[in-house]
Amino acid sequence: MTDGPAGWAGPLHARVLDAAGIGTGTRVLDLGCGTGAFAAAAVARGARVRGIDSDPGAVARARTAVPEAEFAVGDAHELGDPGPVDVAAAVQLLGHVADPRRVLAEAGRVAPLVAVTAWGPEERCEVRAFGEALEPFLGPRRPAPAPDLDALAAAAGLTVVTLDAVVCPFTYADVDDVLGPLFASAIGLAAMGAAGPVAVRDAVLARLEPHRTGESYVLDNEFRVLVARS
Ligand SMILES: C[S@@+](CC[C@H](N)C(=O)[O-])C[C@H]1O[C@@H](n2cnc3c(N)ncnc32)[C@H](O)[C@@H]1O
Repeated sequence: MTDGPAGWAGPLHARVLDAAGIGTGTRVLDLGCGTGAFAAAAVARGARVRGIDSDPGAVARARTAVPEAEFAVGDAHELGDPGPVDVAAAVQLLGHVADPRRVLAEAGRVAPLVAVTAWGPEERCEVRAFGEALEPFLGPRRPAPAPDLDALAAAAGLTVVTLDAVVCPFTYADVDDVLGPLFASAIGLAAMGAAGPVAVRDAVLARLEPHRTGESYVLDNEFRVLVARS
């Protein structure tokens, strides 16, 4: 349950763009571009964006979604010679790669400025409510610790310029908006396999009740944004 509802990353993307000074003409290399949401935000500020992602399907969707940018299939561990880059951005990428230190070192090799984001500590991320609600069916969770971006940047030979926290509300319009993605996720399917959909629905909605206003649910989650020089 970490994909989040549509549009949740708007505040995160805005903070990266502000912190890294991305604006008209900035040459951005978007590492792990996914389907192009951060690229679209950078293009909207006038940046010249190239994105790479290891998933060809994501690259195809990014090309359609953001025709102003260029996208290619690639591995953020091996950037080769990408040509001139002002900012290399790794937005919500590090949790997906085999070697985060190497990805940051590569980013610093090809760009004078590196911007990187990650989830904050679990106690500051209210989406943990989903995992907590499913514990009776799946057993105790072992949440991964939040990455120490400061230490990773130092290990990659980068010099930290700023390290910020930004809260991104995950807003779900109604019960269906909450339960649809959960029921389709790996943990949702496992919980339903163990206890059936009614028990899972009841447990999740009971745990989310403090976050409900009218029909909608809002979960606040903290993210970290680090900008470093190479
Ligand atoms: C959470 S998504 C990133 C979303 C995107 N940066 C944004 O903000 O809109 C993580 C992406 O990292 C990609 N990825 C994972 N390992 C990678 C690697 N070694 N090199 C490049 N991309 C990778 C995945 O395919 C996925 O699209």
